[in-house]
Amino acid sequence: MRPLKYSLFLFCAFLELVIAQTLTNITIDDNDSRISYAGRWDSPTSHTSSRDYGGSHMLLQDRSGSATFTFTGVAVYYLAPKWPYAVDSYIALDGGTPQLVDMTVPATPRDPPNGEESVAYAVLWSATGLSNTAHRVVVTVGASFGIVDGFM
Ligand SMILES: *[C@@H]1O[C@H](CO)[C@@H](O)[C@H](O)[C@H]1NC(C)=O
Ligand SMILES: *[C@@H]1O[C@H](CO)[C@@H](O)[C@H](O)[C@H]1NC(C)=O
Repeated sequence: MRPLKYSLFLFCAFLELVIAQTLTNITIDDNDSRISYAGRWDSPTSHTSSRDYGGSHMLLQDRSGSATFTFTGVAVYYLAPKWPYAVDSYIALDGGTPQLVDMTVPATPRDPPNGEESVAYAVLWSATGLSNTAHRVVVTVGASFGIVDGFM
């Protein structure tokens, strides 16, 4: 018979393989019920764009406001477009130090009018290699705005 230690090792390797094979990215929009908003956020209908995930984003200028996304999983990706002027937000994972995410690109003569974003949404911040337990991402106002467009 194989030693117990070896069998345990094989079993764990098998479990890891099963977990690795079943990882799935789930993208959620800014209106998902897993995101709760506190403070005075603008109406989503005032910030619509084809460059947003799902066609609109949430915007906060209230420095006491926040958005909290709660999920269970091993990774989280923050999706947002970029603007041709200063836009950034703070993101904190599980109560850790907030990280500033810059969403600014240089202005060009082809920029859309009315302050609309000029670059389509993409992954601008992420945290991977997390334990497969409940996690909390909190978005707050950076130098200018708090932006929520989508999470994966
Ligand atoms: C999920 O998306 C991220 C970012 O695009 C990518 O790096 C990762 O490989 C994806 N994971 C799966 C399981 O598709
Ligand atoms: C969120 O907004 C999108 C785009 O307008 C819509 O298709 C979707 O049904 C909304 N989801 C929820 C949970 O309200």
